[in-house]
Amino acid sequence: MKTEMKTNTKLSSEIKEKTRSAIRRNHSKIEGAAAEAYFNMAVNCFKPYYNVYCKLIDSIFRNARDPLRFLDFGTGPGIINNVILSNCSTPLKITAIDNSKKMLNLSEKYNEDFLKESKLELIYGDERILKELNGRFDIIFLRDIIHHIGRLKPFLNDVFKILSENGILLIEDLKLYANLKYAQNFTNILFDKMENVNHQIYDKIIGFLDSIRSAYNLDEVELELDRLNVNYESFEGKGRFFILSARSDMDLEPFAEEWKTVLKNNLLLIEDNNA
Ligand SMILES: C[S@@+](CC[C@H](N)C(=O)[O-])C[C@H]1O[C@@H](n2cnc3c(N)ncnc32)[C@H](O)[C@@H]1O
Repeated sequence: MKTEMKTNTKLSSEIKEKTRSAIRRNHSKIEGAAAEAYFNMAVNCFKPYYNVYCKLIDSIFRNARDPLRFLDFGTGPGIINNVILSNCSTPLKITAIDNSKKMLNLSEKYNEDFLKESKLELIYGDERILKELNGRFDIIFLRDIIHHIGRLKPFLNDVFKILSENGILLIEDLKLYANLKYAQNFTNILFDKMENVNHQIYDKIIGFLDSIRSAYNLDEVELELDRLNVNYESFEGKGRFFILSARSDMDLEPFAEEWKTVLKNNLLLIEDNNA
């Protein structure tokens, strides 16, 4: 009886994993109307939240004089890049990569001046391009992107090869909610809190529920980082995201409280036992 139960549990988790990988493959880029919807959402709802990255970068790299190399993989419509380049005191040069032409196009229009000043470069490509990038980066930013990546291990491996020795990696991603009904309530509450967004249309276009279904557990990401012998800190917000940061020579603990406050103030809070 026990063996049978074990087999069933194993089987169902294998099926779940297959479903999650399939969703990741299908959602591997955000094009067309979905990209427009994402852009509107970022400008109208999330923009003030993005300042937290400036605070983080400035606190860590406060003595930097030469521009630091910042890689934003899966950059999206460029709002975050714009906030960072406008408000960070730290000098930065951002390389932003996406496999959606529409996203890059939106970013190009929104960041015209930064492109002219060569503070931002936009590259069309997917994870295969990591191996072709020259040199190392001081900051690598993976925000809301790893749930699109089918094979996490080789991806993170390639990322670490281009992270400079004292660099920082920031991974922020959706938390996985196994229970669909729970995820549905979650998205309803999330979008109800936002102004100017028709959440049913938004979800239909973006497939936000599918994104949640395809997300990795924090445990899974941590396991891969352990395998790569990377030291990291993880700050698990109660809302939509988990945040995970890796840096060779630094204790990020002082930031933990700040992240939690930001998550509390800008995103909804719900108690979750299913994540
Ligand atoms: C959920 S959006 C996040 C955008 C941005 N990082 C943010 O946090 O607002 C995911 C972005 O990753 C892009 N993307 C998905 N799979 C990708 C891949 N394999 N390689 C490069 N970009 C990818 C999508 O086109 C989309 O712009």
